[in-house]
Amino acid sequence: MSGTVTTQTQGNESAATPALDRTIVLVGLMGAGKSSIGRRLAQRLGIAFVDADIEIERAAGRTIPEIFEAFGEPAFRDGERRVIRRLLEEPVVRVLATGGGAYMDDETRHIIQERAIALWLKADLDTLYERVSRRSNRPLLKTDDPKATLRNLMDRRYPVYAAADIIVETRRVPIETTVENVYQAVCDHLISVETPTA
Ligand code: S3P
Repeated sequence: MSGTVTTQTQGNESAATPALDRTIVLVGLMGAGKSSIGRRLAQRLGIAFVDADIEIERAAGRTIPEIFEAFGEPAFRDGERRVIRRLLEEPVVRVLATGGGAYMDDETRHIIQERAIALWLKADLDTLYERVSRRSNRPLLKTDDPKATLRNLMDRRYPVYAAADIIVETRRVPIETTVENVYQAVCDHLISVETPTA
């Protein structure tokens, strides 16, 4: 990676963003804010945003709950794997939000590691639970105790998400603050890979 691109900052001054030659893939549990933060991060970086879940729904012509209901989770994961591979094989650098289980799939994780920069939006249980409670569109949380289900998913998934290139902790702060933190973390990462220490 070399060179820099210039982007507009919120205050209208110009600031140099280190050159980005790979898609940034947001990973993390349901409710971490991958889509909302991803969309704003893309704007901040001046690149396009794409949401894997929406692309899966478009390809299947059904919503995610309908896919789970009609074909089951393994079929959903197959579709997810195909869609993420296709998106990462396209010669476009963008921000890609993925569903919470995508990075858990060995093949999907490998293609992300090979072709993109993985960024884990790490949140605590209460933050996640508060956010997912606002909507009932997540098949995996249709259980008697969704908070316990989330906790269980955290236990299984957080050690795998930890392989991401960048980790940003998100808290209950204004979304602009999180976007700024994420943007800074991306810049720091790009600088560190441009100028590796001995
Ligand atoms: C899932 C997360 C969902 C969606 C599907 C499965 C998961 O996406 O892909 O319901 O396995 O954690 P979000 O993380 O965007 O809610």
